[in-house]
Amino acid sequence: MSETVHRVPDGFGARIGPRELAELNALADAQPDRFWLDQAKRLTWNKSPTEAGDWSFDEDTFGIRWFADGELNLSVNCLDRHLPAHGDRVALIFEADEPGQGRSMTYRELYEETCRFANLLKQRGVKRGDRVMIYMPMIPEAAAAMLACARIGAIHSVVFGGFSPESLAGRIDDCDACAVITADEGVRGSKYIPLKRNVDAALEEGDVPTVIVVKRTGADVPMKRGRDIFYSDWRDALATECEPEVMNAEDPLFILYTSGSTGKPKGVVHTTGGYAVWVATTFDWVFDYRSEDIFWCTADIGWVTGHSYVVYGPLLNRATSVMFDGVPNYPDFGRFWETVDRLGVTIFYTAPTAIRALEREGDDWVTRYSRRSLRLLGTVGEPINPDAWEWYYRVVGDSRCPVVDTWWQTETGGILISPFPGATDMKPGSATKPLPGIKPLLVDAQHNVLEGATSGNLCIASSWPGQMRTVWQDHGRFFETYFKAYPGLYFTGDGCRRDEDGYYWITGRVDDVINVSGHRIGSAEVESSLVSHRKVAEAAVVGYPHDIKGQAIYAYVTLNAGEEGDEDLRKELIQEVRHDIGAFSAPEKIHFTPALPKTRSGKIMRRILRKIAEGATDGFGDTSTLADPTVVDALLAGRQ
Ligand code: WT7
Repeated sequence: MSETVHRVPDGFGARIGPRELAELNALADAQPDRFWLDQAKRLTWNKSPTEAGDWSFDEDTFGIRWFADGELNLSVNCLDRHLPAHGDRVALIFEADEPGQGRSMTYRELYEETCRFANLLKQRGVKRGDRVMIYMPMIPEAAAAMLACARIGAIHSVVFGGFSPESLAGRIDDCDACAVITADEGVRGSKYIPLKRNVDAALEEGDVPTVIVVKRTGADVPMKRGRDIFYSDWRDALATECEPEVMNAEDPLFILYTSGSTGKPKGVVHTTGGYAVWVATTFDWVFDYRSEDIFWCTADIGWVTGHSYVVYGPLLNRATSVMFDGVPNYPDFGRFWETVDRLGVTIFYTAPTAIRALEREGDDWVTRYSRRSLRLLGTVGEPINPDAWEWYYRVVGDSRCPVVDTWWQTETGGILISPFPGATDMKPGSATKPLPGIKPLLVDAQHNVLEGATSGNLCIASSWPGQMRTVWQDHGRFFETYFKAYPGLYFTGDGCRRDEDGYYWITGRVDDVINVSGHRIGSAEVESSLVSHRKVAEAAVVGYPHDIKGQAIYAYVTLNAGEEGDEDLRKELIQEVRHDIGAFSAPEKIHFTPALPKTRSGKIMRRILRKIAEGATDGFGDTSTLADPTVVDALLAGRQ
């Protein structure tokens, strides 16, 4: 196969070149403990760790700990330690939905805001170890709220503002949150998102004692006496100092819910020390961070990318980070590049789906802006097709800027496979090679570890500091989900090819997780929403390739006897999913069918459903185990 290889563009001049990278890899292999303890020195510890990783992926000794005797506070690491010499440096540039309507916050201002928030939480009785829900737009107060939790040792759980009240309620219930921080409304692409009203709906059953509301639009929102308070009513009276809690490295920092192949979303738990070391280190390595950079990661803080590379990674490195509360196509398709020019952005990190959507609108939206400030581009969240990569590199980056295609997951805390921009030759579509200390393996269904150029299921053989530690309140599920399929290994859920140069090409999920526009959706969740409709008997949901979204959702639905599948019912079902989960989970296609393809033991053969959704008319493989092989013809006849 002929592949394009792009060398590091001339003049990039990275701090870490091929020689330095080889040294990092050699040290990580030869003396892992020393290597990781060295990386831990990026942080300021109250008590420095003397041990690095202490972990086992085996069932009888299972457990993961890093820097376990270390003590620190993460808000101190993100803020206080930068103040003496760099308090006036801009920490966050808030870029609002309307271009130019944002504001900047210096490290000192963010510190004071964080302390105010922390003091307010304390006044409301929030203590170390308590869970606090954050359901907010991309405004600096959201970052301050996260850091405030870290300051007092509370565990934050951010929920993306696009999630429905039902989804929010499920998460509040699962982690038994004692406070919710929200805003009156969000504004995105000139549309208003009723965040406070969604919180009210979520709290109809199972109330919490405190809801703190930040005013974003000033909309009139109902306030429940005794429970709800406006942050602005309290802010000026709150002290701008707050003694930080000294945390153990293994104390939980946050819970972030993510979808898996089965059941309800899992509360992925990340702890303080290891997570912080990992995001601080990877931010520095992968983005070749320099003090003059303006870093813009377009992700929302409701996803892990926002946690690690809008908030914690940049702030731990004393960087200036853009918090974008808009969308790529508002007010027009030039928004990203207009903003890059206006703010002088040097590093830009976004999702392939956005790149593909913008590519389709034509080069002119890009080339009318100078983009001279840019020096590095990145992508994350889903495989990037080589064409889109080339467009990003050539048109957006003028062939001057390396592109780092970064593979990672909510579970990994930070980037695991990515080029070093100044050291790694790039192949469009490949996340290239593992970072130092990361040990990927490809395995087949029979548990054989595959060598050389091959394809298989992607596992990781040894722990790294940013690895998730448990599923909230369900340690058994943690082991079952990730360590049971391939004993002794962490299984990522992704399929992957490794080429003759040792480059990794992620091919996508091999489980029932669907990746729509970089958003991770569990097929079981969408199915359970569909079957909750009174006319629906059964549902099976699969992903199929989509030009812009990467994947879209194709739902097969069987109806109860006597019900008719028509356009109105399609609309109702889509509405049902939007209501239960959120708009981003809505099926693109709904296929009413008299039956689903099942084996004699009653298992749905998703392989066949995926093929039909992709548009295949034959090549379904072995269908002899189907209870009723004629189902396939019926399905083909009804394809959407
Ligand atoms: C899944 C994780 C990573 C933070 C955002 C998504 C897919 C992620 C890439 C990439 C190919 C990628 C994988 C992974 N994915 N990055 N560079 N190339 N696929 O986090 O929601 O936990 O989703 O996203 O399938 O397993 P997430």
